[in-house]
Amino acid sequence: MKKLLKILILCSIFLSACGKKEYVPGTYVGEEKLYKSKIEVKLTLDEKKKIKNITALVHGKEEIITKEALLILVQEVNKTGSVKVDGIAGATYTSISFEKALKKALKKSGLKEEEIVKKNETLLKNKYEILNTDVIVAGGGGAGMVSASVVKELGKDVIILEKSKILGGNTARSTGGINASNTKYQKEEGIKDSKELFFKDTIIGGHKLNNKNLVRTLVENSNETIKWFDSIGAKFTDVGKMGGASVRRAHRPVDSKGLKLPIGTVMVEKLIAHCKKLNIKIITEAKVESLIISDGKVVGVRAMKSDGTRLTVNSKAVILAMGGFGANNKLVSKYRPELKGFITTNAPSITGDIVNIGEKIGISFIHMDQIQIHPTVRKEDGVLISESLRGDGGILVNYKGEHFIDELETRDVVSKAEISQKGSFAWLIVDKKMYDKSNVIKGYDEKGYFIKGKNVAELSKSIGTDYNILKKNLKLSNPPYYAVKVSPGIHHTMGGVKINSKAQVIDKNNNVIKGLFAAGEVTGGIHGANRLGGNALADLGTFGRIAGKNGSLSTGVGGEK
Ligand code: FUM
Repeated sequence: MKKLLKILILCSIFLSACGKKEYVPGTYVGEEKLYKSKIEVKLTLDEKKKIKNITALVHGKEEIITKEALLILVQEVNKTGSVKVDGIAGATYTSISFEKALKKALKKSGLKEEEIVKKNETLLKNKYEILNTDVIVAGGGGAGMVSASVVKELGKDVIILEKSKILGGNTARSTGGINASNTKYQKEEGIKDSKELFFKDTIIGGHKLNNKNLVRTLVENSNETIKWFDSIGAKFTDVGKMGGASVRRAHRPVDSKGLKLPIGTVMVEKLIAHCKKLNIKIITEAKVESLIISDGKVVGVRAMKSDGTRLTVNSKAVILAMGGFGANNKLVSKYRPELKGFITTNAPSITGDIVNIGEKIGISFIHMDQIQIHPTVRKEDGVLISESLRGDGGILVNYKGEHFIDELETRDVVSKAEISQKGSFAWLIVDKKMYDKSNVIKGYDEKGYFIKGKNVAELSKSIGTDYNILKKNLKLSNPPYYAVKVSPGIHHTMGGVKINSKAQVIDKNNNVIKGLFAAGEVTGGIHGANRLGGNALADLGTFGRIAGKNGSLSTGVGGEK
């Protein structure tokens, strides 16, 4: 034993004579050039040869991308306890300089890289990526794709980040129509409408809680929005009626035979094709987690990809288009406890992610308790049976076959009446004449939603109503009849991010948040206490275009040289 100790002491004397530095725990500084400035890394090591802490700063002008990259790199080293740095895609030069500065600091400590005791090897697998663009659109539903298209049409670069595997959001599920007044399609059908009437209907429908400036913007631009959709090949030529509208103004697509088509499918298909034609970069399965602020301006987002990659995108403006929160029952019931456990028509991704993100940066939210219940939803799966069926003549009866409400009352009124019926459900009935004119109805039939009857007696027996009562109330005369059982379900969240008529996001002190815009169901205020059917698509079309235009004009910092 004594012999071994002697050998070790001799070795150590020999090594120090050869210039080998002995390890001393403490804080060491390493520096490295970065563009015209330099990175300074401070590395603190403990007695157990572990990294205790590390910080990094830039001497000189600090670009936002450098700041972001350093933040990620420092976090990574602190978490893993390793000085082996995986370069960040999009910030390669910053990553290399950082690693060099870090290793210089380590060298001063006398500790070799392989001697460091790491904290968590598995965390070394984290991947990072940094991208730069002019405008980021958070959310790839209707509002997101419209605004991204406009940004690109105006010559700016844009990236869409969508958390789902596919684009479309709630828009893809829409089957009703898009409201607009004074359109050529209305004129062709001899419909007399006006901006004033559209404005009035929307305000009355929203129980006067609406922000009037936003409603004014909605109606002033609705015809242009229809024209814009026309220009990308999304033609909504047929005009139908929806609840709360004084005249027919819900525009919808038809096929070559003139049969009605589900508008959401057509709109989303055309928008995707348009975005592809414009070469817009679309990243799916990337969930936006926070907004990056620099000098009081929004200059990017941080997102998490489904493969675990942490993505930072730097930009000059961000457009929020992440939809509402109808599919997040926890949030819904926080604002409206009586809606706990209600079914929803919403896509699973519509979970109100903006609430957490926005609270952190002081976004103002309004009307969060204004949550719309749609009266005709299949309880089994949350599938919406479009209000347009009632607009085209569909009848609602209760369990006995009694007609209990005017089908074209606003949704809140119809839902309330339905909830007060025994079992809180209704039968929505259409006839063969309606069936023959609509691929939407045929689509429901193909999915097996209908109970059919070749006459009133057969239908009544099949759905368990009273024959005489049903016969008296069924104002349809073209058998066979088709009935679907419907219940109320959460459909639209009218509350959300506060915006002005330029689609700029407003903070809690009522100031505009620079560089931040929003459009579609993520916003609040337009629809007041009750949205009219057909106004969601009108909203996303008009405010999507406005957000795209103003977002593209927004200037700021950012971008690696
Ligand atoms: O019932 C519907 O077709 C829904 C339309 C809408 O919410 O605008």
